[in-house]
Amino acid sequence: MGKKDQFQTRAIHVGNEPDHETGAIVAPIHLTSTYEQEEVGKDKGYDYSRGGNPTRKRLEENLASLENGDHCLAFSSGMAATTTLFQTLSAGDHIIIGRNVYGGTYRMSVEVLSRHGLEFEFVDTRSPENVEAVIKPNTKLIFIETPTNPLLELTDIKQTAALCQQHNIKLAVDNTFMSPYGQRPLDLGADVVMHSATKFIGGHSDLIAGALVTNDPNLAQELHFIQRSGGAIPSPFDCWILLRSTKTMALRVQKQSDNALELAQRLNASSFVDEVIYPGLENHVQHELAKKQQSTPDGNCIFGSMISLRCGSIEKRDSFLSNLRLFSLAESLGGVESLVCVPYGMTHASVPPDMKISMGLTEDLVRLSVGIEHIEDLYADIERAFKE
Ligand SMILES: Cc1ncc(COP(=O)(O)O)c(C=O)c1O
Repeated sequence: MGKKDQFQTRAIHVGNEPDHETGAIVAPIHLTSTYEQEEVGKDKGYDYSRGGNPTRKRLEENLASLENGDHCLAFSSGMAATTTLFQTLSAGDHIIIGRNVYGGTYRMSVEVLSRHGLEFEFVDTRSPENVEAVIKPNTKLIFIETPTNPLLELTDIKQTAALCQQHNIKLAVDNTFMSPYGQRPLDLGADVVMHSATKFIGGHSDLIAGALVTNDPNLAQELHFIQRSGGAIPSPFDCWILLRSTKTMALRVQKQSDNALELAQRLNASSFVDEVIYPGLENHVQHELAKKQQSTPDGNCIFGSMISLRCGSIEKRDSFLSNLRLFSLAESLGGVESLVCVPYGMTHASVPPDMKISMGLTEDLVRLSVGIEHIEDLYADIERAFKE
């Protein structure tokens, strides 16, 4: 299966070659911790499953292909992937992070890894000038999320990659919100892509996993060394479920995004909320960048399935939440079922209140993760919940 095959074809076939021994069309799950060796030091490519497992290898090949990368490492969670990436750095290194990243990334940086001597600086990465202003001689990594969670702010990946190249800094992009179907940062110049595979890659809210993808063989080797040393690996069963899930990713993510665009447009035309934040709306200040940067492998614009709404008051927010029937109040996103959450007190609970308020993450903000249910049922649920 070559690089010239289309995304949808690679999603189904790369890493999913029929089993050599039996011809089984669906890959077997290698539930084993260890491997018989012919003699000391002579094995068939695997010696212990912390270091490598055939089912994980299949998944890593599949995900690398979908991100247009050469190497992928799969992890037990998105946070394990991010932490492993940060562990490639040394005490005294400076890391620039988008101010509006996932709350768990903030918590791991500030409350854990800064104790080990890494220096983190949070900035609004929407403008490259802001980023350039804080670059120091010891800056080794810029870590961005685009669009961000939950304010859906975008960072220009191409521009930021050019800046990184100029200063010999690596650029990492958390691509969780778009999935490889909606955005491929390596093609835009990023050095490494991170995923919470828990979200769109898994797509069914039934597992926790993460991934890092890169074209840099030295970085891949170092990431594998840390993965093998620390052992934050996904189980073979979870790898198999993920391999099954990526087969339908293009269909799921496209439908979720189509539903979200329709909902965002209808909500924007209604008087239910004070503000609808969605990169697919013309009133989103970075709509043009979204059109340029976020695209399907077939080259069509795609805006994602996350919408944030400012309800206007906590009372209105709570009444809306308690009246919803289809949207479940839950953390996470990217599954086939629609979810709603209050980032202020849920996903971003560990971010200090003054920091949340300064970036516009207010208590009345609710975040929708739109699934693949029928659009009319989804809209009817929201309409009724606001009207009741
Ligand atoms: C954008 C983003 N990055 C990273 C993570 C962390 O991933 P995980 O929960 O798989 O550890 C999340 C989880 O919500 C997320 O939304």
